[in-house]
Amino acid sequence: MSWIASPAQLKRRGVLGMNRRNIMLIGQHNDRRRFPLVDDKLKTKQLAEEAGIAAPGLISLIQYQHQVRRIEQLLAEHSCFCIKPAKGSGGKGILVIHDHDNQNYFKPNNQSVSLPELKRHLSNILAGLFSLGGQPDKAIIESLIHFDNRFARYSFEGVPDIRIIVFRGYPVMAMMRLSTEASDGKANLHQGAVGVGLHIDNGKAAYAVQFDKPVAEHPDTGQALDQLVIPEWRKLLVMAARCYEITGLGYLGVDIVLDAHQGPMLLELNARPGLAIQIANNVGLEQRMSQLQTVIPQNLSPLDRVSAVQQLFQSS
Ligand SMILES: Nc1ncnc2c1ncn2[C@@H]1O[C@H](COP(=O)(O)OP(=O)(O)O)[C@@H](O)[C@H]1O
Ligand SMILES: [Mg+2]
Repeated sequence: MSWIASPAQLKRRGVLGMNRRNIMLIGQHNDRRRFPLVDDKLKTKQLAEEAGIAAPGLISLIQYQHQVRRIEQLLAEHSCFCIKPAKGSGGKGILVIHDHDNQNYFKPNNQSVSLPELKRHLSNILAGLFSLGGQPDKAIIESLIHFDNRFARYSFEGVPDIRIIVFRGYPVMAMMRLSTEASDGKANLHQGAVGVGLHIDNGKAAYAVQFDKPVAEHPDTGQALDQLVIPEWRKLLVMAARCYEITGLGYLGVDIVLDAHQGPMLLELNARPGLAIQIANNVGLEQRMSQLQTVIPQNLSPLDRVSAVQQLFQSS
């Protein structure tokens, strides 16, 4: 298979245009009243907990300036954690800390953040600097995901995450996002992470891109990307499919991380998933969705929906 496609080929393969995606998918399948469930990572965490879906543990929720002032006491007993705005997106405002001595806090690349800088960062989160619409926000401090050693050569200083697009409850497209030196320990594609498209039936690599261009190896580690295969793949598909029931959203981006000790965990949900997943797969979503709509019965359980797509989207 060729790993290089021209824009014309992508168009022929049905990669959806931005307007079309917005109008057709988001408008038709997502009830706006349900957006707050996924636009706030704290609410998503609560939904996951109620449904028994694993998610990174909440260490603390920071809502007030007086909590920021004594943050060092709160963090003293936690050697590593991740700070994020509850209503952030695209990796903005996320601070991953893997160690500290109560004065300096160390990022995955070993750059340090001083205590006053950390406090300023938290105040900026509360002021809404990184959040949807610039509204005042809360800061979530959650347990650090320790990523599985099997992926050590697939990622540079950060946790890879797996995005699965779930259409009316059916997983239709997936990719793994690998952090790179350029993406600063975060797996967001526009910051320079690598996107590896995954076959829906078996979780094996299908294609890969960085900055929308095909790549064969991880740019920092040299690891061949076509060797990538996600362990416990069916478990991830089922977790993603269940997010349809818990949110009621018909077009959903489900982001999952693999923790070395706790296995797959739900990181976030997105009611307006981007188009990059189609570039990372070199396949259009429209094609997958029309295949699905013609053959798949309604009212199946999450497990049966997963079996159905594994049958329908066979890679070989
Ligand atoms: N608890 C965590 N532990 C380690 N890394 C994390 C954690 N939470 C987020 N990250 C890193 O930051 C990236 C973005 O986090 P995410 O919660 O998806 O926020 P956003 O909505 O900004 O994309 C993730 O892909 C991951 O690489
Ligand atoms: Mg994300």
